[in-house]
Amino acid sequence: MSDMLEKARKYETEKLAHTDKNTKPLFHISAPVGWINDPNGFSVYDGKIHLFYQYYPYERAWGPMHWGHSATSDMIRWEQLPAVLAPDQEYDKIGCFSGSAIEADGKHVLVYTGVTKINMPDGTVQERQNQCIAFGDGINYEKYEKNPVITGDTLPENCSRIDFRDPKVWKEDDTYYLIVGSKGIGQIGQVAIYSSKNLTDWKFEMMISDDSTGKVGKMWECPDFFPLGDKQVLICSPQNMRAEKYEFHNGHNSVYFLGDYDKKQHTFKKEEPYALDYGLDFYAPQTTLLPDGRRVMIAWMKSWDACVVPDTQDWEGMMTLPRELEVKDGQIWQQPVRELEAYRKNLCRYESETIEGETILDGVNGRTIDMTVTINDGEYTTFSMKLACNDEYETSYTYYKASEILEIDRTYCGVTKDIVCVRRLKIKDTKRPLKLRFVLDRQSIELFINDGQQAATTAIGTPLEADGIRFFSDKAVAIDVEKYDIVL
Ligand code: FRU
Repeated sequence: MSDMLEKARKYETEKLAHTDKNTKPLFHISAPVGWINDPNGFSVYDGKIHLFYQYYPYERAWGPMHWGHSATSDMIRWEQLPAVLAPDQEYDKIGCFSGSAIEADGKHVLVYTGVTKINMPDGTVQERQNQCIAFGDGINYEKYEKNPVITGDTLPENCSRIDFRDPKVWKEDDTYYLIVGSKGIGQIGQVAIYSSKNLTDWKFEMMISDDSTGKVGKMWECPDFFPLGDKQVLICSPQNMRAEKYEFHNGHNSVYFLGDYDKKQHTFKKEEPYALDYGLDFYAPQTTLLPDGRRVMIAWMKSWDACVVPDTQDWEGMMTLPRELEVKDGQIWQQPVRELEAYRKNLCRYESETIEGETILDGVNGRTIDMTVTINDGEYTTFSMKLACNDEYETSYTYYKASEILEIDRTYCGVTKDIVCVRRLKIKDTKRPLKLRFVLDRQSIELFINDGQQAATTAIGTPLEADGIRFFSDKAVAIDVEKYDIVL
């Protein structure tokens, strides 16, 4: 193990020994110490589900990227494991950027982007991003001695060698494939596909997709590519994407394209892009296929541009709940993994409860809860809920029936910076009673609308004593509430 990795492991162990666990999310992965961003290497190895992440232990800010590590058997209780990669080689000295993992011949293989700098003939220095691998046993990982295994020189002439990152690997029959995000001429996002028989020798096949419209942001970060139902899905996180009406508001967005994939020719005919999440904090999702056939996605629960973390907190960055994906009516639907249900306790239920004006319902509160509220039709024009609230703090969800808009507002969640706090989204299906499932875990609120047709994820920075929930309706409306505490 390199001195740099040993130092990181020692540092995190010491810090973790002094961390009060009750101040951190209960069932979401969060930074052990310092900073985390993208989920990496989401995979099944040796009977366990592993998740790695972009990690800088020493500060609550992005820095030279390491890979942190957690593992689980049910995606709810996570075990903190020691960091696995540090930027300790010439070819990754600027950082071990995002990537993925796969089980191969009994080994756990990590595929990541090594970022380095090279001297150009004209005396300038330029960054280079190349793909690298490491072999491990679920705890310790050795970088391959002939890294990098894919350099930018394998790309067509007019592609960037600087923006070439985030490999996602999979196996089909006897061949490994990986896709990598890249930037083409005119700053257009694109995705390259490579093939290999052994994970060390790779051949560039072609660009499977690019942004011919010029509307889907710039560099396509963290691509993922997999079959779902009878469709093929391409997920990517385009940087700097322009918002359109109620869509694509995060600047750095995460979108998906459904399409048809010809595996032999590597051609992918894609449909329109859709947002994966309508909240304020969701980026760089990655999926894995579970042995039981479920395709599960996890994402970084933060936006690059906004931060709600109070100055007193010495860690930053959480992951969303893993979510089960499904294609229905030509779009992706998502629900928290069903394993969460095993941790539901203390059911509190109201049926056809009338809300008029501001109402508190006995027993409906909490900061680690799974709660579904169904708003039956009525004469109201505005229905609203305040979560994580007391007289000082609140995060509100307000539904304006005439315009079919749901407004999320975290202005009073405890933020002390001038960041975006309000997001409006259009409810896709207004023909049915609006069903809102909220999963709260101390510093976050994940919302699943109408059984997962839409999702909206929002981080909050609210002191834990603000655990109230208040309902409001301008005219009488009947709602159903089913609330559980999540107890681990
Ligand atoms: C996405 C990203 C990736 C990169 C990583 C660096 O959030 O920019 O493209 O690999 O973060 O930490």
